[in-house]
Amino acid sequence: MNVVTHIHELKELIQQHQRKQHSIGFVPTMGFLHEGHLTLAKEARDHNDIVVMSIFVNPLQFGPNEDFESYPRDMNRDQRLAEEAGVDILFTPDVKEMYQGEPSITMTVQKRADVLCGKKRPGHFDGVVTVLTKLFHLIEPTKVYFGLKDAQQVAVIEALIQDFFFDLHLVAVPTVREADGLAKSSRNVYLSERERQEAPALYKALKQGEVAVEKGERDPKRIYQLIEKELLQTSGEIDYIDIYSYPELEPLQHLTGKVILAVAVKFSKARLIDNVIFHVPESGEKLV
Ligand code: PAF
Repeated sequence: MNVVTHIHELKELIQQHQRKQHSIGFVPTMGFLHEGHLTLAKEARDHNDIVVMSIFVNPLQFGPNEDFESYPRDMNRDQRLAEEAGVDILFTPDVKEMYQGEPSITMTVQKRADVLCGKKRPGHFDGVVTVLTKLFHLIEPTKVYFGLKDAQQVAVIEALIQDFFFDLHLVAVPTVREADGLAKSSRNVYLSERERQEAPALYKALKQGEVAVEKGERDPKRIYQLIEKELLQTSGEIDYIDIYSYPELEPLQHLTGKVILAVAVKFSKARLIDNVIFHVPESGEKLV
């Protein structure tokens, strides 16, 4: 595995592979790798000639009161895990390399950003699309891999790729779950024993919503109530329960087309998020 910190070294390696017409699978990360990232790397490994991973804690996507400084970092461990996962090039720039002085141009996400988790993080997705635009230009990937646990991020990046004609394919990888359904997350370790037992309620509630739709329910209010009832049985505080079209993330009066049911619940030391995305047939259309 090549570990590079400078853009010129990265470009040189990328050009060598481009000359050989290698397909490039790209996994952008902020490091402190966990099973979710490694699943993305494995997918990339299985479907491309080479795998590039970036590790860059992007200051632009953190708000003034967020944890940029204290965001967990462990480069030695990450390098070992990336190598074991079959990464060929690990790009680990510092902030000066990616942001050379005050920007002359900034990017603003106009749609899909001010709902779900983005509601309380103004500017977050502006920072995400800015850094990804830079990384996509540097790496010119064939395919780029993201986890569907951050379904809003996937929706915003789909818009970025479409609006700016990036010639790459986004692969959205399903959420990796524990045996009891809890979505894997580095934050799960912050749950108390009791909270850990309650936490699978998020996925259970979402699945109940999905099953109700399969049985013919089309009223978002009814689905909301079902999900709420299940979540109220936990000791966590419901942050949001939302139902939107996907990937547009627009409210629906009547469920139809591709939809997302998404929840966020605050436990004492961890805020958990989860979602399910599925297709709702037009009335009369057969369920498959
Ligand atoms: O999902 C993340 O870790 C980050 O938002 C990303 C996509 C690497 C951009 O900094």
